[in-house]
Amino acid sequence: MTSNFKPIRKAVFPVAGLGTRFLPATKAMPKEMLPINDRPLIQHVYEEARQAGIEEFIFVTGRQKEMLEEHFDYQPELEQTLTSRGGKEDMLEKVRSSEMPAGKLFLTRQPRPLGLGHAIWCAAKLIGDEPFAILLPDDLVLHEQGCLTQMVDVYNQKGGNVIAVKDVPKEHTKKYGIVDIGEKEGNITQVKGLIEKPNPEEAPSTLSVVGRYILQPEVLGYLAAFERGAGNEIQLTDSMAKLIGDQPFHGLEFAGQHYDCGSRLGFIEANIAYGLDDEEIGKDVSTLLTKYK
Ligand code: UTP
Repeated sequence: MTSNFKPIRKAVFPVAGLGTRFLPATKAMPKEMLPINDRPLIQHVYEEARQAGIEEFIFVTGRQKEMLEEHFDYQPELEQTLTSRGGKEDMLEKVRSSEMPAGKLFLTRQPRPLGLGHAIWCAAKLIGDEPFAILLPDDLVLHEQGCLTQMVDVYNQKGGNVIAVKDVPKEHTKKYGIVDIGEKEGNITQVKGLIEKPNPEEAPSTLSVVGRYILQPEVLGYLAAFERGAGNEIQLTDSMAKLIGDQPFHGLEFAGQHYDCGSRLGFIEANIAYGLDDEEIGKDVSTLLTKYK
């Protein structure tokens, strides 16, 4: 779709968190390298971003996260071995699917994990003065049309800021950023306000923010204040809330099933769902599951 708004060319992937909920698995390995079916979380979101037309990929990394960059490297030894064995075209294809084209991966570091807002601010120079996307590798959405692609469609109509949202049980609002809902047009909601991790009795709605964002660069100015919010972390939600009123701000209730892969239960469920969805092993996964009923 053609649009009058600046295109979304860059995406930020914050991957500097500690992943404490997956200890000891994440003692030496990044949480974002945990696999859902046959590929790590980071590759799922990379593919989603590519489908949405993203051209530049910005990783905000930290200590012990080097494996994430290496995953997107050219692997000559592996390719040579597979080639010399012959008939391994499908495997070679899989290896190459995570090879980042030259000049497209940009790295910055967050020296300390002070919160998601701080991680995004660490990428400010690489983002520059243009609207950009953020994808949290913890959050996966299973749908033919990727969640970010759906959001870019909304952005092309509305401009401004677009976030992915979904309804959650009232007793769970304390775990999420929650939207104060304005006018609704189908699955698009005007965002009147945002509040991070409110108690159920203070929550303005049950519509929660999922880890996909299209934001205007002005948010970076607010993040630069380094204000601490919920959990004493520098929260992205607090700075996004300051854009409301000055710029269009919409939430999209996206199509597809969302999995919170940052929690152990969500991670296991995502592995079942992606396994069932897999052309090669889907039927066998389904049969396997009957054993556990
Ligand atoms: P989470 O809060 O889910 O990740 O952040 P975490 O802190 O690593 O996990 P737990 O709660 O300890 O288990 C969502 C995303 O934001 C990144 C994380 O790496 C993850 O991809 N993040 C979070 C940062 O890059 N920096 C931070 O300071 C916090």
